[in-house]
Amino acid sequence: MYNEKIMDHFPNPRNAGEMLHPSGVGEVGNMKCGDIMKIFIKVEDDRITAINFLTFGCGAAIASSSMLTELVKGKSLDEAMAITNKDVDEHLGGLPDAKLHCSNLAADALHKAIADYREKNLTA
Ligand code: FES
Repeated sequence: MYNEKIMDHFPNPRNAGEMLHPSGVGEVGNMKCGDIMKIFIKVEDDRITAINFLTFGCGAAIASSSMLTELVKGKSLDEAMAITNKDVDEHLGGLPDAKLHCSNLAADALHKAIADYREKNLTA
């Protein structure tokens, strides 16, 4: 059902766990199943220097979170804002149709974390 890439990320997720003192946090829930994903980012000079996730969800959601963190680290905030849920799915080699909704949390949570950071760092 899952390809090798997904089976690599699911049991060995990258950047899993809560981050202390993040620059921004984004949390989204999946309407379809009730699962929750939380993304923490550290921002320096408009660039994401660290990213972690906490996902209360299925293996596909965990693999999506893990892949997202690898895609995003080192990117500028604008580059990270351009990452879509479809990008995450494509980099995972494609989730099975029935699990596609599980990848719909990752980019959304990231975008919320960036919005949270920008809100906290508004300069008047
Ligand atoms: Fe809920 Fe996959 S079943 S995120």
